[in-house]
Amino acid sequence: MEKKNQIYEGKAKILFETDSSDHLIQYFKDDATAFNAQKKGTINQKGVFNNKISTRIFEYLQAEGIPTHYEKTLSDREMLVKKVEIVPIEVIIRNVAAGSLCRLLNLEEGMKLKVPILDFCYKKDSLNDPLISEYHIRALGWATDEEVEEIKKYVFKINDLMKKFFLDINLDLIDFKVEFGRFKGKIILADEISPDTCRLWEVGTGKKMDKDRFRKDLGNVEEAYQEVLNRVVK
Ligand code: TMP
Ligand code: ASP
Repeated sequence: MEKKNQIYEGKAKILFETDSSDHLIQYFKDDATAFNAQKKGTINQKGVFNNKISTRIFEYLQAEGIPTHYEKTLSDREMLVKKVEIVPIEVIIRNVAAGSLCRLLNLEEGMKLKVPILDFCYKKDSLNDPLISEYHIRALGWATDEEVEEIKKYVFKINDLMKKFFLDINLDLIDFKVEFGRFKGKIILADEISPDTCRLWEVGTGKKMDKDRFRKDLGNVEEAYQEVLNRVVK
């Protein structure tokens, strides 16, 4: 597949057209941002780590019946994906209280939740990705009722599958964010799944093995991503 023009550059990835109108190349950068890009930096080799980690997770989810945009891994930093129309919603599942949930409700980090929380955020940097409900999504036409139901069905299944996947490598899945897109009329999982988009705590020690090391200046950021990759491909 031939790489053509760049069509989009985001905070962590660049998208390129290909000679297939149904496919894009997703290029993973080392750039890291936090708190809606108020904090900016670089995590050395992050693009390579996240491409490989995402690859493994997409392959696993796909094999378990979740449709994804993943086609194949082309190089250290490049993944061939289906060209989707992104639904402008960040879909978050939380199993344990952390991050913005603790700030919102003044909860102690690490509090186990009785059931997982599903949050929707509108993907809009200029508004700071505000928390919304599924009624906003329907009322503003960002997705149809059927699409919202499909997304909810998939995201809970993804949570069950990923909790098991990470527990097998001694990591607790605290929370994660995913994005979906439309491809030929169907909702499929898109974007990436990596330590940028998941909170992962080591079982037993509680050590943070994700982007919170960058967000909170905890040090050993690269080492944590490398360790997650080592475990994921073991
Ligand atoms: P939050 O606690 O900051 O809302 O984050 C919840 C989860 O979503 C966490 O695993 C990090 C991930 N996330 C992203 O992938 N992108 C984002 O822009 C934000 C804010 C969170
Ligand atoms: N990626 C988001 C940003 O730049 C936030 C985050 O992951 O904390 O702002």
